[in-house]
Amino acid sequence: MNILIINGPNLNLLGVREKSIYGDQSFETFFKSLKEKYAVSSIELSYFQSNHEGAIIDKLHEVGFDIEGIILNAGAYTHTSVAIRDAIAAINTPVIEVHISNVHQRETFRHHSYISSVCQGIIVGFGLKGYELAIKSFV
Ligand code: DQA
Repeated sequence: MNILIINGPNLNLLGVREKSIYGDQSFETFFKSLKEKYAVSSIELSYFQSNHEGAIIDKLHEVGFDIEGIILNAGAYTHTSVAIRDAIAAINTPVIEVHISNVHQRETFRHHSYISSVCQGIIVGFGLKGYELAIKSFV
């Protein structure tokens, strides 16, 4: 089973950025251990990060007819991007929306997601563990 994790803008700064909200672990460190853990079960995890809306859309188009699952943390684009919403609706691969923080406990502009309605499920507020919960749900 092939699963791709896509992280959107500013998530390259995990471990550095607003640690009280997002924690102090870099995504690369977290991803390395996750990849090793699931490799033994023949689950091939890959990871893509971009700060650019179009690059995220291109990646969804590229993999979205071939692989079994996509885990997407679209970062701030969650709250702004009709284009990413339309890309998710256009592809066949199911997408799970993940947010590290509980966006509903935060500013009101984070309460609305353009992508939730086209995602298979939503995991919010469980920290980095949310990515693993999404993998488990695909498995
Ligand atoms: C986030 C929540 C978004 O509101 C924010 O813009 C992010 C990260 C999260 O994982 O909690 O960049 O998606």
